[in-house]
Order: sequence, then structure tokens, then C-alpha cells
Amino acid sequence: MNKITAAITGVGKYLPDYVLNNKELEALVDTNDEWITTRTGIKERRILKEPNAGTSYMAIRAAQDVLAKTNTDPKDIDLIIMSTATPDMPVASTGVYVASQIGATNAFAFDLQAACSSFLFGMSSAASYIESGRYKKVLLIGADKMSSIISYKDRATCIIFGDGAGAVLFEPNNEGLGYQDAILKSDGIGREFLKIEAGGSILPANEETVANGQHFVFQDGKTVFKYAVSGMADVSEQLLKKNNLTNEDVNWLVPHQANKRIIDATAQRINLAEEKVMINIEKYGNTTSATLPLLLNDYEKQLKKGDNLVFAAFGGGFTWGAIYLKWAYNS
Ligand code: UT7
Repeated sequence: MNKITAAITGVGKYLPDYVLNNKELEALVDTNDEWITTRTGIKERRILKEPNAGTSYMAIRAAQDVLAKTNTDPKDIDLIIMSTATPDMPVASTGVYVASQIGATNAFAFDLQAACSSFLFGMSSAASYIESGRYKKVLLIGADKMSSIISYKDRATCIIFGDGAGAVLFEPNNEGLGYQDAILKSDGIGREFLKIEAGGSILPANEETVANGQHFVFQDGKTVFKYAVSGMADVSEQLLKKNNLTNEDVNWLVPHQANKRIIDATAQRINLAEEKVMINIEKYGNTTSATLPLLLNDYEKQLKKGDNLVFAAFGGGFTWGAIYLKWAYNS
């Protein structure tokens, strides 16, 4: 009997309407369009302005989009993995709420948090459930409302991040398409360089932490940049070697969108031509858990059945890795 593989059979997305461009940021912090464009590649990002709406608001819409596109009855979903670094609330689980809201009454759901690698790690988890043979439809959602944890007085972070959501459906495949292999890594050395200090169990929020802005993201960008470049490039190179793939065999690099210079360095390391590198950072910035599925949405029409995709991501923690996946459909 053929081994069951886990294929992506559809993609969906949701992006808030509000566009925050570099010009508007110039009015908030000491920065300029030229610096942001040349140092990061970002021109604009989306911001969720809907009152009382959190990450689930976007996740529900991205999930509904993929269900509609694949003509899937939500009652047939077995599992929802909600990849996010910005859950609606610390407790209760955002994925569980999303499942109820979209009518996935037969699914169980949980949240998965690995900072900017949340979706990448989620892909590995989703694939394992399918490969076990016990789950037929796994919905993986990557969504983050980064604007809820960013200080718009901190130019080191507010220029980078944006809000958005993407979702993919994983299903069994008997042609050997879908998820092939992964190299996933983590290292606690990263904890000091990219974090939110307050609001967790070490330093619960109090008046002082709020006054100090410790509930916002702190990033030592230079250090994270250095680790991200070597981390993403190393695992991508190793994954190709491990699977006997040359740059000719790879159709697409699907890289986390944190900084255009990190993406370029990863592509260069595996000698990949620019036209094989998915990129949309100029439109959305770094949407954390949503970058990879948003790329799949933007490039879906160009993808062909059998294409070899290499996903790569790097995030807080540190967490990072690369995944090799064969695309399973023509759209
Ligand atoms: O997705 C999760 C993982 N996160 C990442 O991968 C992000 C990794 N880090 C980065 O992408 C980059 O480090 C940043 C985009 C955050 C910063 O770029 P950089 O090239 O590392 O800038 P820098 O911090 O080294 O600063 C260079 C110069 C400094 O001026 P001096 O000291 O050379 O005079 C900064 O003060 O640029 C200045 N600067 C800015 N200028 C205008 C720093 N931020 C800004 C800004 N606007 N927003």
C-alpha cells in the first residue's frame, strides 16, 4: 500500500482594508520611506481597525475563504490548528472559537505558538495528523493581529509588522504529492532578542509595566537579522541536500516575509533565480504567522501540480526551519 502523504488542496486569505503606508509612519516616528524601502523592502502593511475584533476575526474569514474555494462542508473538518502569536486572549484558545464560528462542529482545535515559525511548525503538525491515517481534513490557519502588540512610537518594530490571515486545507494524497520532508529547529538563546516582557507568568501586567510599554514587542533587530540570515539559509541548503534536490529541481522558494534582505540571502545561498522566489513583503510587511499562506494565495495561479516548493521561516524564540512540499493541484 502507498504511504499516505499530506497535500495542500486549497488556500484562503483575509486582509484588513486599512493600508498603513511608509508616508503615514513618517508622521508617527523618526523614519522615512527611503530607509524603510531599502532596509526592509516594505512599502505598506494592512491594519485591522474593526472595533473589538482580534485575530479570530481575520482567521474566521480566511477559513471561510478556503472552505468556499474547495467546496468543503465545515462539518467534515477533523482538526483546526490555529497558528498565531497574537491569540484573542491568553485563555481561551482562539482556534476553538474559530472552529465554532465557522461551523466546524466535528473538529477539535488548538493554538500553536512558535512566533514567526508558527505556520511552518503548523504545517509539520498538520501533515503528521494526515499521515497517521486517522484524520482526513485538517485546516491550518495562520493569523496575527500584530498591530495589537506593537508600539507605534518604536521605529525599530512599527515599520515592519502588519495584520493578516491565511488558511490552507490539508488532505490525504495517494500520488505521493504534498508534504515530503522538514528540518525544524529551535534555540532558547533567542529569548532575549525578540520578546514581550510583560503580561506573561514571569511579569504579569501591572500599572508600571503598562507605563513602561513592556506589553509591546521588543526586538534587537541587528542580532535577530544575523541569526535569521544564517538560520534560514542553512536549513534550506541542508534540506535540499538531504532530498538530493538541486536548484534546478526547486520551482519555488516560499520564504517568511520579515525582511527582503533575509529573503535574498536565503535565495542566494541555494542559488535560486529571483523569479522562483515568492515575495509580497512590499504590500503586507511581516504578518508573522500569515506570511506563508498569504504567499500561497498570491501565487496560487502560477503553481502547477508536481511543483517542488521549499518553505523557510525564522522567528522569535528562536524558532526556524524549512519544509519541502510537492504542490498537488492546478488552479
Ligand atoms: O520575523 C521575525 C524575525 N524578525 C526579523 O527577521 C527581523 C530582523 N531584523 C531586521 O529586519 C532589521 O534588523 C531591521 C529592519 C529591524 C533594522 O534594520 P538594520 O539594517 O538592522 O538597522 P539597524 O538597527 O542596524 O540601524 C541602522 C541605522 C541606525 O543608525 P546609525 O546608528 O547607523 O546612525 C539606526 O538608528 O538605521 C537607523 N534606524 C532607522 N532609521 C530610520 C533604525 N531604524 C530606523 C528606522 N528609520 N525605522
